[in-house]
Amino acid sequence: MSARKIKDGVYWVGTIHWDRRLFDELIPLPDGTTYNAYLIKGSNKTVLIDSVDPVMEREHVANLGSLHVDELHYIIANHAEQDHSGGIRRLVDTYPMAKVVTNGKCRNMLIDLLHIPEEKFVVVEDNDTLSLGDRTLEFITAPWVHWPETMLTYLREDKILFPCDLFGSHLATSDLYAFDEARVYESAKRYYAEIMMPFRTVIQKHLKRLEGYKIEIIAPSHGPLHNKPSFIIDAYRDWTSDIVKNEVILPYVSMHGSTEAMVNHLIAALIKRGVAVKPFNLTKTDIGELAISLVDAATIVIAAPTVLAGPHPAAVYATYLANLLRPKTKYASVIGSFGWGGKMLEQITGMIGNLRVELITPVIIKGHPKSADYLALDALADTIVEKHQALGISK
Ligand code: FEO
Repeated sequence: MSARKIKDGVYWVGTIHWDRRLFDELIPLPDGTTYNAYLIKGSNKTVLIDSVDPVMEREHVANLGSLHVDELHYIIANHAEQDHSGGIRRLVDTYPMAKVVTNGKCRNMLIDLLHIPEEKFVVVEDNDTLSLGDRTLEFITAPWVHWPETMLTYLREDKILFPCDLFGSHLATSDLYAFDEARVYESAKRYYAEIMMPFRTVIQKHLKRLEGYKIEIIAPSHGPLHNKPSFIIDAYRDWTSDIVKNEVILPYVSMHGSTEAMVNHLIAALIKRGVAVKPFNLTKTDIGELAISLVDAATIVIAAPTVLAGPHPAAVYATYLANLLRPKTKYASVIGSFGWGGKMLEQITGMIGNLRVELITPVIIKGHPKSADYLALDALADTIVEKHQALGISK
């Protein structure tokens, strides 16, 4: 790859990580990712917006070289996480004149994470501007998308927003822009679910504030750019809204078939009652698919057998993750089977303190389900329908 032109004097100088398959040693990346960085040549100053993951910094420096960047005056750091800031460490040596422009919190984090000397920084505040001569950058602090130091950079004359992770997608593609909207939508939703969802209400406020800016291009730090900004802004409005779907997410694991029989019965009971259901076999599922589904489902039912005295570890992992991601789910329940006893239910329900859910009466049984157990699952399905009806999302 080499640099790609966005507008006269504005270039993409990022890198594409086609075969990365895991982020933070946690998040599956079925479609790879990109680390987008941007170069702006103003009439007086040349500026780089963000950098790349250090694993691809050689290609990044080559992209800058393809534009004959002899002098770099500023490096804007929108975010301290190393997939965007990591390359800055090398760049401040390559371009000794360059100052790193960022807010105070981000400066402190970059000193800690990358050991960049304090004298290299220019600290900016919310709404501060930086003149490049014929162009002006405005800095918009936007804490908690998704770290506390995050900020967005707006190029006024060209109406381009550089929001770093916000509006991003883990999608390696040769498309500079989001032409394939269906594919980008799924990747962006996965990204939102795994990275941004815990900060849903904060993002609502940032979206409101961005209404005050005329934006023609959104240039995020992962995935393709948006030259139809309403596509991704509308998606974010939907995902961050309080509206949930008439849908049950059903992560499950079963050792000898008893919990699975309960799951299969509940699936059929929900379908019969007009409720969409998405089961996830936790021994096989892509955990990112589960995260995507949590974005807008009304209800989650965790299904787990008892191992020794507690829940199966796969169910613990999924429950812990769901609690971490703080979806807008309204209701939760637990189903499962045990052989001789244990505290599976107490441990699962004790792990969902972040979820602002109403707990619907669980169905925990001994051994393989009997007729009364199936009736209890039917009653659970009935209650879910009633709850969804109360929300106005079910017939
Ligand atoms: Fe893409 Fe929060 O780093």
